[in-house]
Amino acid sequence: MLFDLTGKTAVVTGGSRGVGLMAARGLVAAGARVYLVSRDAAACEAAAVELGTQGSVVPLGRDLSTPEGCAAFSAELASHEEQLHILVNNAGATWGAPLESYPLSGWDKVVDLNLRSPFLLVQGLLPLLERAGSADDPARIVNVGSIDGLRVPRMQTYAYSSSKAGLHHLTRVLAVELGRRHITVNAVAPGPFESKMMASTLAEQQDRLEQAVPVGRIGRADDIAGVMVYLTARAGAYVNGAVIAVDGGLSLVCEA
Ligand SMILES: NC(=O)c1ccc[n+]([C@@H]2O[C@H](COP(=O)([O-])OP(=O)(O)OC[C@H]3O[C@@H](n4cnc5c(N)ncnc54)[C@H](OP(=O)(O)O)[C@@H]3O)[C@@H](O)[C@H]2O)c1
Repeated sequence: MLFDLTGKTAVVTGGSRGVGLMAARGLVAAGARVYLVSRDAAACEAAAVELGTQGSVVPLGRDLSTPEGCAAFSAELASHEEQLHILVNNAGATWGAPLESYPLSGWDKVVDLNLRSPFLLVQGLLPLLERAGSADDPARIVNVGSIDGLRVPRMQTYAYSSSKAGLHHLTRVLAVELGRRHITVNAVAPGPFESKMMASTLAEQQDRLEQAVPVGRIGRADDIAGVMVYLTARAGAYVNGAVIAVDGGLSLVCEA
């Protein structure tokens, strides 16, 4: 039963596609009931139809970029659920521009969604998480960071890499505080995975990236599903405050 999530309720933000959908697929397959949340309700519903053949999925079209959106979602979830066992803070955005012309609007968009919203969702959902956790089987928060928050990326994505480094450290800060309250907090730092966010990068650089990654390939859906199930199931109950690179070793390499 080390990897079983039967009876658990989970939220995956940005679960409609990409890394979030990969995470949701793993949690559903392991038995969890999963709320998929992103702005595009139709995309959430399509994902829920796909995953629904394997288990229970609830699609919700909601904007989590603002404090009001995070508060409204937290209140809505509390009206449906007594407890929340698993929160995956995955929704994210990026922005690239030269240093001199990097726009304030791009900075705010990225930092608000990637760093502020995970904090606000933890605040808003804390009562549900505390009700779900016990000393033997804590509730779990998994923040989706990035290897760009571990090492300096090649692209001029100043807000993105800073927000991810901030999210990794917020993970550690919250792990110390919430561990005592029977909630673990960990982060996953993915390397390159196919997604809308990565589409143009992979179109231009997939060959170079595959050569740079020590295991010789970009990530696959199962790579995300596996680490998510590990961190949220009994197997990962004693892991707290970790930032786990899921990158085939790419973050260890000096790329020319
Ligand atoms: N793909 C990679 O190689 C990679 C590598 C490292 C880290 N990551 C991280 O993985 C996470 C997912 O990225 P991805 O690559 O899968 O990108 P993606 O395909 O663009 O997915 C982003 C997800 O976030 C949702 N989202 C965006 N803005 C939102 C908002 N305001 N409110 C609610 N949901 C919102 C999107 O749905 P809507 O547009 O419908 O809102 C979508 O479901 C991000 O945190 C990213 O930084 C990805």
